[in-house]
Amino acid sequence: MKHLLTTQGLSKDDAILLLDTSAQMAATQSRENKKLPTLRGRTVVNLFYEDSTRTRISFETAAKRLSADVINFSAKGSSVSKGESLKDTALTLHAMGADAVVVRHSASGAAHQLAHAGWLDAGVLNAGDGMHQHPTQALLDAFTIRRHLVGNVGTGVPGSRQSTDTSAGADLSGLRIAIVGDVLHSRVARSNVYLLRTLGAEVTLVAPPTLVPVGVETWPCRVSYHLDETLEQWQPDAVMMLRVQRERMSGGSGSFFPSPMEYSRKFGFDARRLAVLPDHSIVMHPGPMNRGLEISAAAADHPRSVIVEQVANGVAVRMAALYLLLAGTDETGTEKTGTEK
Ligand code: CP
Repeated sequence: MKHLLTTQGLSKDDAILLLDTSAQMAATQSRENKKLPTLRGRTVVNLFYEDSTRTRISFETAAKRLSADVINFSAKGSSVSKGESLKDTALTLHAMGADAVVVRHSASGAAHQLAHAGWLDAGVLNAGDGMHQHPTQALLDAFTIRRHLVGNVGTGVPGSRQSTDTSAGADLSGLRIAIVGDVLHSRVARSNVYLLRTLGAEVTLVAPPTLVPVGVETWPCRVSYHLDETLEQWQPDAVMMLRVQRERMSGGSGSFFPSPMEYSRKFGFDARRLAVLPDHSIVMHPGPMNRGLEISAAAADHPRSVIVEQVANGVAVRMAALYLLLAGTDETGTEKTGTEK
């Protein structure tokens, strides 16, 4: 694996390898000494052009747990605010000897450009590009679903729809995942639809018609405009709520639907809606949450919510991604000694 840019086109073998490696990384994180020497001498740059809490901190934690040197670069306070281009920033990182660049950018395709423009000799990990992709979020979501509903590595909930396959290599076949809310602006939704489908799960997107992207009919999923009907009749194993991204809507103030109250009434997830799900179903949200809009505090803090666990799993998944990019084996099975292009 040279870069991790998208889940669309990620092979099932690579997805399973990432999840199995994440499970191994997670096992090391319950030890007293959490640190591994694996990436000693390597430099990981966190290049963030957009705000982030979870992704930036967990990539930093993951790189440090693997003993890499970490450089945190945020566009605010850098020469980007003086007009420096992505290319010149990349050339600067190349000059500093970056082995891996973790990039978040508001422009869809920025990570792909960084990986393929020839500006850098480094592995590129997409930490979210515009409304396009957020592959490590989808991987940590799949990892969390697998742990709870497939029974892999220990925290399985009894009563899952899936027969319990506890082996490494288990996929998500037979599981039903509902992804609910602002699909239009969500790189998390896009990344999850493709990854979950590759892993064998069935996915239904639930959203108001105004928040469904053009071309969704080509995505490998169903689309519903009715949350209650989907929950009652389809009985999903996991409900993944999406943040309403008011900052990406015209005017930035959120004129997205008749009103936030109406949105909440029709598409908000709360304890009443949780009660119609099967007993084993879990509640997810990538964060940050708009409590009281797309999810109530009662649902977010419910024992069946795995939202905090998603954040914790992000460290293991990002350790796995960094490890496979920088220290795994190449296509011929040879151990990597440096970043390959
Ligand atoms: N889920 C997610 O990407 O959160 P941050 O924006 O805080 O990184």
